[in-house]
Amino acid sequence: MILLGPPGAGKGTQARMLEEEFGLVQLSTGDLLRAAVAAGTEAGKAARAVMEAGELVSDEIVIAILRDRLAEPDCARGVILDGFPRTTVQAEALDALLAETGQSINAAISLEVDDAAMVTRISGRFTCGGCGEGYHDTFKAPEVAETCDKCGSTDMKRRADDNAETVASRLVAYHDQTAPLIAYYKDKDVLRSIDAMGDIDTIAADLATIVKQAT
Ligand code: AP5
Ligand code: ZN
Repeated sequence: MILLGPPGAGKGTQARMLEEEFGLVQLSTGDLLRAAVAAGTEAGKAARAVMEAGELVSDEIVIAILRDRLAEPDCARGVILDGFPRTTVQAEALDALLAETGQSINAAISLEVDDAAMVTRISGRFTCGGCGEGYHDTFKAPEVAETCDKCGSTDMKRRADDNAETVASRLVAYHDQTAPLIAYYKDKDVLRSIDAMGDIDTIAADLATIVKQAT
């Protein structure tokens, strides 16, 4: 499964829910890159400034990271790609990788939201440092302030690239480089689109229906 959508559309939120419901593996290139930056690897050093500027990391780095992660045994049970591919070069590289392993894309699901909603969603976002659960000041606040509902951690983190200036650049990158993938997957007859302006549970139910039909 591929989740396509602009920054803040809810890809990570929904991918984590699908992971729990269907036993698929969430594979977020944003999370993999942030881990590489934190670990100080060569790829992480090259990616850091690009991510802070809200631009896209080079196809070469991202494809290499994705290839390594996809080769891990747990991915054999099925993967939800969250934030990959983001360019036509990445989409073609994914086709080639899947052809090598005899796998295929069941569905590329486009989460449709308007630009104003994305800015609101991103500016209220925080994540549990203990288990990775995502939260929002208004739309998904934990039951006890600053405490994770899932693991009890109080180590809540906000992302360095979640500021207004960077979000504007990320939106430009999305419209210029990633939105053309909607036509790419439509041509391959695997595109599904859903209205992602509703509440989290309604979108999750719509997505679950598509996943059941597509697998
Ligand atoms: P990445 O980490 O992929 O960020 P992104 O695409 O900008 O997406 P976000 O994580 O911001 O949003 P999301 O759609 O996951 O929304 P979320 O579920 O958190 O990429 C970061 C950077 O890494 C890029 O800018 C680039 O530099 C680099 N990168 C990554 N992949 C790359 C690639 N393939 N190629 C090149 N560079 C790459 O939701 C947002 C908030 O809204 C949360 O607080 C959530 O609780 C809330 N929310 C979710 N759904 C709803 C809803 N329905 N209603 C109300 N609130 C909601
Ligand atoms: Zn947690």
